[in-house]
Amino acid sequence: MDQIIVTGNGELRGEIPIAGAKNACLTLMPATLLSEEPLTLTNAPRLSDIKTMTQLLQSLGAEVTTMQDGQVLAMSSHDLTSHVADYDIVRKMRASNLVLGPMLARLGHAVVSLPGGCAIGARPMDLHIHGLEALGAEIELKDGYLHAKAPGGLKGATVEFSFASVGATENVLMAATLAKGTTVLKNAAREPEIVDLAACLREMGAQIDGDGTSTITIQGVDRLSGATHPVVTDRIELGTYMLAPAIAGGEVECLGGKLDLVRSFVEKLDEAGIEVTETDRGLKVCRKNGRVKAVNVTTAPFPGFPTDLQAQMMALLCTAQGTSVLEEKIFENRFMHAPELVRMGARIEVHGGTATVHGVERLKGAPVMATDLRASVSLILAGLAAEGETVVSRVYHLDRGYEHVVRKLEGVGAKIERVREK
Ligand code: EPZ
Repeated sequence: MDQIIVTGNGELRGEIPIAGAKNACLTLMPATLLSEEPLTLTNAPRLSDIKTMTQLLQSLGAEVTTMQDGQVLAMSSHDLTSHVADYDIVRKMRASNLVLGPMLARLGHAVVSLPGGCAIGARPMDLHIHGLEALGAEIELKDGYLHAKAPGGLKGATVEFSFASVGATENVLMAATLAKGTTVLKNAAREPEIVDLAACLREMGAQIDGDGTSTITIQGVDRLSGATHPVVTDRIELGTYMLAPAIAGGEVECLGGKLDLVRSFVEKLDEAGIEVTETDRGLKVCRKNGRVKAVNVTTAPFPGFPTDLQAQMMALLCTAQGTSVLEEKIFENRFMHAPELVRMGARIEVHGGTATVHGVERLKGAPVMATDLRASVSLILAGLAAEGETVVSRVYHLDRGYEHVVRKLEGVGAKIERVREK
């Protein structure tokens, strides 16, 4: 397994290109199952999760051709040969469950393995099932697989989510595009990835209104056509790299960044004393000398502070002036980066879903272990300003969500390299 070695190397300067959004691409790809005509995605990120989704779609009989070094995904689901999403693939990546709604709508049946838990939580699918059953699906759990069928096709209905689940909103939204009649999703997730999915589905002929708000209305149609769609910018990669100059000092421009994607996050950076300005190429982040100020953070569904930036924000607050309190309200176990940051000299107390961070002057490099995707990158961010060398192991977690992280950070002056574990 590889390791990444990062050494505190002073201020960062330059620009970092931001890729297409992993979490948009992972829901746009299953949308190909809704149509017999080709769906092509551009601005796709080069990530191992995208390769996993590619394997899954191919196992169902879809054709997926990657071009331009993986940035273009040309897909066709004209001849599907299977309706079973196997445990072997689903257990590797929870987002595999996003083939359930499209397969049910297109084929009238689907067998999808339950994903099983993951490092950050149990991650059940009760809200996905609730929504699809409301559209008339019959879903039964057998031997760890969801067996879903809708022999007479899906019928539009009103679906109220008890929690604004991103995945459940995406699954039911995709299924509703081919249901007979009108579907109304209440307390729907409002993430930019949902808005991007709705835009792509409309380009395919779907009739959708209200995406980006808590109420989405879909008029079902008989069939969908093909489309070519650019994947929206990755707001989590954007926020991650905005924290690099915030932590190490200096000035970095994140190309392709848009303020609307990260408003609540930028409000917190502003509170901490970090300067963010919009440029005609993206977002510029500047941190003058002097320590950042402590701030309190509570994660929430969009437009609240994103849970996927909580670990990275904690890395910044470890050396803030004062005490910060972070509340993780989305997942039940998303502080696994905290003990690793403590190994670097951070002072953090975790009680349930609350982490209290007492800022220290500077962290010290140390060998640390990545435990999940966002935790791994928070350790690299912390290492950018730590004294000495930080060695991050199990960086395969990183490859799931960050393309070329060494090249992007080297490009702004970071001292960072990837090595084969000794
Ligand atoms: C998506 O996961 C993202 N993944 C996650 O990003 C992100 O953290 C999450 O949304 C929240 O923003 C993708 O888009 C591929 P949820 P998802 O359904 O859809 C509970 C990353 O780092 N829940 O909004 O699985 C669930 O257990 C990943 O890129 C139910 O209880 O998130 C969790 O506590 C991590 N029942 C909470 O809701 C359900 O049926 C949020 O889940 C569904 C979810």
